[in-house]
Amino acid sequence: MSNECSCSEIVLLMGPPGAGKGTQADILVNSRVLRKLSTGDMLRDHVKRDTDLGKKAKVIMDAGNLVSDDLIVAMVRSELESMQIIRLLLDGFPRTTAQAIALDKLLEEMSTDISSTILIEVDEEELISRLLNRATELGRSDDNEEVIRNRMKVYHELTKPLIEYYQGQNKLVSINGSGTVEEVAKTISEVLA
Ligand code: AP5
Ligand code: MG
Repeated sequence: MSNECSCSEIVLLMGPPGAGKGTQADILVNSRVLRKLSTGDMLRDHVKRDTDLGKKAKVIMDAGNLVSDDLIVAMVRSELESMQIIRLLLDGFPRTTAQAIALDKLLEEMSTDISSTILIEVDEEELISRLLNRATELGRSDDNEEVIRNRMKVYHELTKPLIEYYQGQNKLVSINGSGTVEEVAKTISEVLA
C-alpha cells in the first residue's frame, strides 16, 4: 500500500504554553476545510481512556515535561498514515528538534511538505495568567503555577530551537498573539490567505 498522504497544505502552529495554539486551531478547523492534529489532545484522550500510552504519558504531562520523541513520532506517524485530507494543522507538534527532523522525513516519504510555521508570541506573564485562568475553567491537571513554570522552561530549552530550524527553511512567520482571540485569528487568516 502506498504511504502517500493526500495533504496538500500542512501548517504548524507553534508557541509557548497558553499562546492560543488550541484556540486558534479550533477556529481554523471550524472556518476552513482543514483538519487538526494536536498531540496534546491525543495524549489527553489516551489518559482519559487509560491506555498503556496514557498511563505512561500522564505522569510526564502532570510534571510539565515532554513525552519521549519515539512515542510521539510513532503516534503521529500512525495518524498521518490513516489520513485522507487536503489541509492539516499541527498543534503542539513538533516540539523538539528530533521531532522536527522525524516529521520532515515522514512527510518526505509521503511526498508532501510543510507549507508554513506560524509562531504565536505572547509575553510570559500574560501566558501564566491565561493558564491559571483556564485552570479554574477546565481543571487541566498541568495548569498549576509550578507545572506551568516548568512547561515554560521546557519550551525555552527544547522547543525554541525550532524557531531557528524553520527560519533556516524559510518557513517561519511570527505573529503577535497578545490581542483578542478574534484579532489573532484575523492575523493568522491573513498569513494563510
Ligand atoms: P499541549 O496540550 O500541547 O499544551 P501546551 O503546549 O502546554 O499548550 P496549551 O495547550 O496549554 O496552550 P495553547 O497554546 O494550546 O493555548 P490555548 O489555546 O489552550 O501539551 C500538554 C503536554 O502534553 C505537554 O506538556 C507534554 O507533556 C505533552 N505533549 C504534547 N505534545 C507533545 C509533543 N509533541 N512531544 C512531547 N510531549 C508532548 O489557550 C490557553 C488559554 O488562554 C485558554 O483558556 C484560552 O481560552 C485563552 N486564550 C487563548 N487565546 C487568547 C487570547 N488571544 N486572549 C486571551 N485569552 C486567550
Ligand atoms: Mg493546546
